[in-house]
Amino acid sequence: MTYQTQTVSSAYFEHELLSIDENLAKAKKGVPHPIPYQGSKRSIVSSILQFFPSNFERLVEPFTGSAAVSLAAAYHGKATKFLINDINAPLMALWQEILDRPDQLLAAYSSLWHAQQGQERSYYDDVRREFNQTLRTDYFLYLLARCVKAAVRYNAAGEFNQSPDNRRKGARPGTMKMHVLGASALLRGRTTIESKRYEEILADASPHDVVYMDPPYQGVSVNRDSRYISGVSFEVFVNELDKLNEREISFILSYDGKTGSKRFGEPLPGFLDLVHVEINAGRSSQATLLGRDAHTFESLYLSPALVAQIQAKPSQRAVAAEQSSLFPVLL
Ligand SMILES: C[S@@+](CC[C@H](N)C(=O)[O-])C[C@H]1O[C@@H](n2cnc3c(N)ncnc32)[C@H](O)[C@@H]1O
Repeated sequence: MTYQTQTVSSAYFEHELLSIDENLAKAKKGVPHPIPYQGSKRSIVSSILQFFPSNFERLVEPFTGSAAVSLAAAYHGKATKFLINDINAPLMALWQEILDRPDQLLAAYSSLWHAQQGQERSYYDDVRREFNQTLRTDYFLYLLARCVKAAVRYNAAGEFNQSPDNRRKGARPGTMKMHVLGASALLRGRTTIESKRYEEILADASPHDVVYMDPPYQGVSVNRDSRYISGVSFEVFVNELDKLNEREISFILSYDGKTGSKRFGEPLPGFLDLVHVEINAGRSSQATLLGRDAHTFESLYLSPALVAQIQAKPSQRAVAAEQSSLFPVLL
């Protein structure tokens, strides 16, 4: 049997995809988002959730970043347990603090935010220097709130070296409080936090989980030695996806996309038998600068096990659930 990636419209799943405006309106309403983060899926998360099964036990995010997908899934009651992981250890320490000691974190953030007034530039540099020595979570939250494009950047020695965006003072303490307490209430008590390479997390996933993956953009260099950041090799990643398929794990993957007619990212091989859906992520700011009106489409790839789950009629799902408890090894 030969397989190929199948590109489908949303009608394939008998529902309409959300428009850009609907996505943004939903993203801004209700779901907390305490960590500003470049590459966050916040603006298209409602479209991503449309492809989740109606209910499942655990959502596994091996490339968590700002956890936009886990937070939205928790907010909409899609899953009851969560595993969030990212290779960036200080980021996951910050998540631990948000979940376990939000009041302490908020008090520290508020002190930093007020103390910077009138000396924003030099204060940022001082906090960054201190962060690189101590890895304190309150310092990291402040740096993420103030740095250029909310983009984490490290030098060869593994020190955070991103510059401040001098137009941003960072979220006001009152706004940060709303987001941190909201995120803590959604995830506390039902979330496991890890900081491992994604392969280790995938090895522990089960057919009862849904795995959502948003690896770094291809082109980010692969660096095994770097402390907090690493790229993902295409070949290794494809092999990991193949192993997930063999174990019939349901996964959703954000991978490549296109702006206008320009595609970015290497196509995934047909043998993975993935279903491909394109989400309109809105007008590209780069294209707008060049006077063109091109939209960016972000790709989602759905694994065969996930497609079977979301296409199954309720009665079929009941049979599948029964079989899965009888023959867990087969499913
Ligand atoms: C595109 S971002 C994910 C953004 C996330 N979906 C969000 O909404 O904020 C990719 C993340 O993968 C992490 N990462 C990079 N290499 C990794 C690896 N080998 N294992 C686990 N995480 C990794 C990065 O630290 C980064 O936070």
